[in-house]
Formats: sequence, structure tokens, C-alpha cells
Amino acid sequence: MRVLVTGGAGFIGANFVHQTVRDRPDARVTVLDALTYAGDRASLDGVADRVELVEGSITDGPLVDRLVGESDLVVHFAAESHNDNSLADPTPFVQTNLVGTFTLLEAVRRHDVRFHHISTDEVYGDLPLDSPERFTPGTPYNPSSPYSATKAGSDLLVRAWVRSFGVRATLSNCSNNYGPYQHIEKFIPRQITNLIDGVRPRLYGAGANVRDWIHVEDHNTAVWHVVEKGQVGETYLIGADGEASNLDVVRTLLEIFGRDPDDFDHVSDRPGHDLRYAIDASRLRTELGWAPRYTDFREGLEATVAWYRAHEPWWRPAKAATEARYARTNQ
Ligand code: NAD
Ligand code: DAU
Repeated sequence: MRVLVTGGAGFIGANFVHQTVRDRPDARVTVLDALTYAGDRASLDGVADRVELVEGSITDGPLVDRLVGESDLVVHFAAESHNDNSLADPTPFVQTNLVGTFTLLEAVRRHDVRFHHISTDEVYGDLPLDSPERFTPGTPYNPSSPYSATKAGSDLLVRAWVRSFGVRATLSNCSNNYGPYQHIEKFIPRQITNLIDGVRPRLYGAGANVRDWIHVEDHNTAVWHVVEKGQVGETYLIGADGEASNLDVVRTLLEIFGRDPDDFDHVSDRPGHDLRYAIDASRLRTELGWAPRYTDFREGLEATVAWYRAHEPWWRPAKAATEARYARTNQ
């Protein structure tokens, strides 16, 4: 099977490529990635002989048309993915997440190629901190940030192309991922690399906001379940019952590093900061038979800390510039 992976040099996409090459010897993988600040060739080290990496944008119509025409399946990860960046400048978010997804949809329509769209639980907005409520595929869309609004828009484009043009697409909306190859602008790797450098972790606001953490390997096994067993036109929520407050995550990391539990700083909060995300993934579990493998969050964090300790040459070049960006907003 010829698989085109957009955004395959980014965090989740690169892990998807590694998993696919490891577990599916019949797959021929092509990656289309613009290698923005968030993409890195080095994330594909070790699989380069099994993968063709094409450097280019999903907004490039002729390039996308050619690559889609040579594929049996497109798994679409490419996006601008960071909320804080979308508050500083939404422009590339509109281009990549909306125009890029539209460009891919037109190509899969022309070539009748199976499409899987990777999306986020943030399209549903947020939930109250203290409630048993969780997101389901029926939760109304209510995105808060420019990032989540463009992801919501891209989901709606996919749904419309299924209904109006018969495109063979599935969608998945996943909660917060952690694991190897995550850019150090994101919460967990930012704090891990701060702690490696002896710098105190940075908590937005009071740290009460809750995220529903899932290991990236589990996200990607779920994606393959949806690709192989999911129903065209349907949306599957991916999550592993991993709710934790940001404060709890920072305290666990401090413990792993043998530091004092209060050895962190409160910094400026994110404008419009979503309070809580929580996924009800029962459809994925019951209908498609998926289950996560990383069920102990602390163990997953320990493995992630070990990965960042062992891969300093991978993240070090981005550290100073990333922190300089945060310094501008006192974060
Ligand atoms: P990332 O920022 O680490 O990687 C994005 C990749 O897309 C990079 O390699 C980048 O170079 C590439 N890219 C950006 N613009 C491009 C363009 N115009 N053309 C081609 N490539 C381009 O993001 P991630 O965290 O790996 O997220 C991947 C996908 O998963 C996104 O669609 C995101 O919305 C979704 N998602 C992420 C999470 C999470 O916790 N990180 C959770 C749920 C869903
Ligand atoms: O829910 C899925 C989403 O998860 C994905 O769609 C996004 O692509 C991904 O970036 C992530 O979004 P978040 O905004 O939840 O992730 P982030 O890592 O930026 O922040 C996680 C939480 O930690 C959030 O409540 C903000 C907080 N935070 C973040 C940083 C960078 C801090 O307290 N301190 C920090 O330094």
C-alpha cells in the first residue's frame, strides 16, 4: 500500500511513520512536509531508507495532485499546531490548516483516494473544571483559539467533501499527545528541557487547567484502527482517560527529576485559555476494538524524560529561540 503522510516530519506524523515502517512491511511511505520550524528531517532518522521525504507545502496544488495521484491512502497530519503561536500570528494557520486541507481534499476527490483527517478535541471548545462531562462525537463545535478555529473549519471541509462529492474520508479528534519528537514549545517537553537545563518549569496562571494526556504511540495505533475499520464519513474521538491538571503534571516531572514540588514559577496566562478537555473514546474502544498500551501516565512521562535526556542534539538547537519567543509574552 502506498501511504502519503502529510506533516510526517512533525511530532505525531514522524511517530506515525516510525510505527508504520516498523509494523507494516508492505507499506510504502511518502512524507510531504514543508519543514517549517516544527518539522525536522532528523525525526525520520533510522527510517530514511524506507521513506521518501518530499519537502513542499500542502498548499501547493500541482505537487499535492501528483503525490496524491501516486497514493492509495493519505493520512493528513500537516498543520500549524501551537495555540500560543496562533495568538501571535494566525496567518499561517489559515493558510495551512484551511487552504492546505482544501487543496488535499480536491486532490483526493479527483483521484478517488482514501483520506484520513487528523484533528483535535479542541474543536469542541472546553469543559467546566469540575464536571463529569466529556466530549463525544455529538458535542457541538465551539473552538476558542485561531488554531482550534482553523482545525474546526478543516473538519467541516472534510465532512462537506464526503457528503457533497463522495470523498472516502474518516476523521479523528484526539486529546493532548506526549512522547518522543514533540517540539519543545509544547508544555511537557518545554518543562522537561527546562529541568534538564536546571531552569524552573513555567505554569500558565494557577495551573488548574486540565488536559487529557495520551501517548503518541497510542494515538497512532488508534489512527490505524480508524483507517482500517472505521466507517467513511464518520468521526472517532481518540483519548486514553488521562486527565491531569497542569500543576499535577509539573509536580510529577519535578518528582521524576528529584526536585522540590514547589520548584516552579507561575507565568502570564494564555488569553482565552481553555479550562478542561476530556474525551469519551468508547466508540473507538467498542466499535473498533482499540485499547491504549500506555495506561500509566507517570511511566510514560519517565520514558519521555529519558528520551529527551538521550536526544539532546535533536532538541537543543531550538531551545534558545523558543524561550526567547516565550519571553516576549512573559511566559
Ligand atoms: P507539529 O507542529 O509537531 O507538526 C506539524 C508538521 O506539519 C511539521 O512537520 C510541519 O513542518 C508540517 N507542516 C506545517 N505546515 C505545512 C504545510 N503547509 N505543508 C506541509 N507540511 C506542513 O504538530 P503535531 O503536534 O505533530 O500535530 C499533528 C496533527 O495532529 C495536527 O493536525 C494537529 O492539529 C493534530 N493534533 C495534535 C495533537 C497534539 O497534542 N500535538 C492532538 C490532537 C491532534
Ligand atoms: O488537545 C489537543 C491539542 O493539544 C492539540 O490540538 C494541539 O496541537 C496541542 O498543541 C495541544 O494544545 P494545548 O494548548 O493543550 O497544548 P500545550 O502543550 O500548548 O499546553 C498544554 C497546557 O499547558 C495548556 O493548558 C497550557 C499549559 N502550558 C503550556 C506551556 C507551553 C503551561 O502551563 N506552561 C507552558 O509553558
